[in-house]
Amino acid sequence: MIIITFVVLNFKYYLMMTKVISILNFKGGVAKTTTTYNLGVALWMLGKRVLLIDTDAQCNLSGMLGFNQQGGDATLNEWLRTDDMPMPVYEQYPGLFYVPSSKALRDIESYLNSKVNREMFLYNKKLKPYFQPQQDGTYMFDYVLIDCSPKEGLMNNNNMSASDYVLIPAECSGFSLQGMQDLLFGINEIKENVNPKLDILGFLIIKYDKQTRISRAVSEFFDSNYGDKVFNTKIRKNVKFDETPLQYKGIFEHAPESNGAEDYMSLAEEITGCTRPDNWQTIAMEAWESANNEQEEETEENQDQ
Ligand SMILES: Nc1ncnc2c1ncn2[C@@H]1O[C@H](COP(=O)(O)OP(=O)(O)O)[C@@H](O)[C@H]1O
Ligand SMILES: [Mg+2]
Repeated sequence: MIIITFVVLNFKYYLMMTKVISILNFKGGVAKTTTTYNLGVALWMLGKRVLLIDTDAQCNLSGMLGFNQQGGDATLNEWLRTDDMPMPVYEQYPGLFYVPSSKALRDIESYLNSKVNREMFLYNKKLKPYFQPQQDGTYMFDYVLIDCSPKEGLMNNNNMSASDYVLIPAECSGFSLQGMQDLLFGINEIKENVNPKLDILGFLIIKYDKQTRISRAVSEFFDSNYGDKVFNTKIRKNVKFDETPLQYKGIFEHAPESNGAEDYMSLAEEITGCTRPDNWQTIAMEAWESANNEQEEETEENQDQ
């Protein structure tokens, strides 16, 4: 009996531990940011507490979240450069949080290079306390998704050093294999030298169109070379993704009935083993509307004062 209780407790404990996933590929335009945002929202809709971190100086994820840096707003850049500063975390919806980026992050490589343990700086000096169990044994976040830039360098090495997993989006184009060897080599270097627990969570086939020969060829290539590491879920090509960043919305807020929303929800189910709630197609839209109504009310109040 004691043994059973011990096992159950530990299993629960294990289930609740923070899982950190870097969304990484050394190519641009392969849906890293799209995946970070929409997978994050899907995990949140499955009841998980989620943190998204934008580590790209292009700030596309921060833009999708509607973050627009005002004078005093702190971002990842200031956090990395300032001792004893709390994490600059913002709440998108209740239970969905993010750390935004800023253009100034483009100069972070030389700063990280000056640090003693330069590959581990982000984890050791910044993230670590936020990923530890709290006093009641629970964790602050169930999932942390790190949106990476396509640049090889210390920022991405730090991201991998702070992660349990790498998720690799692979585009259905003739160029998708270019740079893949460098990427796998880079992941392995970090695993062997810095972070032994790092693993590939999976290759995610994106912009898939089963009518085209190239989509089928890319998908078959990944299946035959990386078999069990390829997600069953493929993200189909869909114009709705291109409409969303303009409106500071993801696919669930903008087009919850599209196959893009269906695909990212399936991916979240595949990763967690959870099943979507019946009302999944309205949750994000309603949260978005209520967050925006609150913002409008605040603006009106400020104008009245
Ligand atoms: N499944 C998809 N179908 C069609 N377009 C997509 C899809 N996923 C992403 N896109 C588009 O591809 C472009 C690049 O995506 P993005 O997430 O910014 O890539 P990255 O972060 O890797 O540079 C964006 O315009 C995005 O809207
Ligand atoms: Mg991006």
